[in-house]
Amino acid sequence: MKERLQKLIAAAGLASRREAERWISADRVTVNGRVAGLGDQADVEEDRIEVDGRPLRLEQAKVYLLLNKPAGYVTTARDPQGRKVVSDLLRDVKVRVFAVGRLDLNTEGLLLLTNDGDLAARLTHPRHQVAKTYLVRMRGALNTSARQRLEEGVKLEDGLTAPAKVANVRSSGSHTWLELTINEGRNRQVRRMCEAVGCSVSRLKRIGLAFLLLEGLRLGQYRHLTTGEVKRLKKL
Ligand code: URA
Repeated sequence: MKERLQKLIAAAGLASRREAERWISADRVTVNGRVAGLGDQADVEEDRIEVDGRPLRLEQAKVYLLLNKPAGYVTTARDPQGRKVVSDLLRDVKVRVFAVGRLDLNTEGLLLLTNDGDLAARLTHPRHQVAKTYLVRMRGALNTSARQRLEEGVKLEDGLTAPAKVANVRSSGSHTWLELTINEGRNRQVRRMCEAVGCSVSRLKRIGLAFLLLEGLRLGQYRHLTTGEVKRLKKL
């Protein structure tokens, strides 16, 4: 059966579909010796698909990791500017994994990494609305109208956000801490939502993704998900 090349590359665990599309556009993928184009399809049984000259194999074992990302690391596989990348923290992991969704350079916390492109695509698809909870530290106080706007939906340049949940608001003199739960995954969404309601974020940490929590992982540490957790994620 013919399928899109980015889907096959993701199924082989080499990259997310989006990253695979970039590889195809960069002429790194060939089918039966010819450079493939975006939108091309192939049959893994009948066609010879190569990425960077290496044959695509579909049976690679799947790996699922949960990392407590420190600030100062980028979540992409490579960084043209030479900044630290999250895979620098996974020295014992022998297969290539990629982040499910992104955390900004200066955002800390829970990051899921896998070579399971299908699960990654499902978890990041807007239709699936996976809850993500962030611990936010902001300068000053969160006034009632700002809180209400976060809870009702905030107008951003890419459209109105869905209502967020605000919980556990604590003030400590010059700062306020709160937990914000969103179900979307737009670029820099939490920072942009807070800015839009007049708040300035001074620290951001993801502490929950669906049922997964950081629990006991120190900054920079990671663990493998249990088979039970992987099953639950696949059912979301
Ligand atoms: N929202 C942000 O603003 N940054 C992140 O890293 C994640 C969510």
